[in-house]
Amino acid sequence: MKITRAQALRYLDEARALNDGGWITHSLAVGTAAERIAAHIVGMDAERAFVFGVLHDIGRRFGEMGMNHVMYGYRFLCAAGDDEAAEICLTHSFPVQEITAVNAGWDLTDEDYAFLDRFLQEQSYTLYDQLIQLCDAMATGEGIVAIERRMMDIMIRYGVDETSMPRWRKLFVMKAEFERRMGCTVESVLGLRTLVRV
Ligand SMILES: [Fe+2]
Repeated sequence: MKITRAQALRYLDEARALNDGGWITHSLAVGTAAERIAAHIVGMDAERAFVFGVLHDIGRRFGEMGMNHVMYGYRFLCAAGDDEAAEICLTHSFPVQEITAVNAGWDLTDEDYAFLDRFLQEQSYTLYDQLIQLCDAMATGEGIVAIERRMMDIMIRYGVDETSMPRWRKLFVMKAEFERRMGCTVESVLGLRTLVRV
């Protein structure tokens, strides 16, 4: 089953009542950014991209948590019947496709950690997985921002460790690949100001 745009927004509204916070605006921003980029790429479904973006952090409806939000989101969307959206909950934090590529906030059970490890090893990322990873890296709790600003936001909130650089390098590679597919910059599509060449 494919969750519709209206249903995704209903889930987010319910979540706001359960656990309000900056993650709600962040989720809407990721959905909006994903929809705009997907609309410029032949073969991508912009509404699907919006739904995936809006719901990527939906596990946070269950309360404050670390990486466990990916498991909660996955189970919630599996129960809702949208396996593709559910899997994006699992992949969105892993631009580098290894469980050790993220080093903060591990609060999964041993069993869930082993499940996620296996899932990441076996999964072939789709363009949608990568699109949500990129848009997640361009949205704060205030809205869509330049990727560099979001990196600063993450650095200030979580610090930098040995996993940071490989992840950010990968995000810039993905950004360039989406720009190649669109034939224009991500910033221009998202209405972000960029430096003017003189
Ligand atoms: Fe997340």
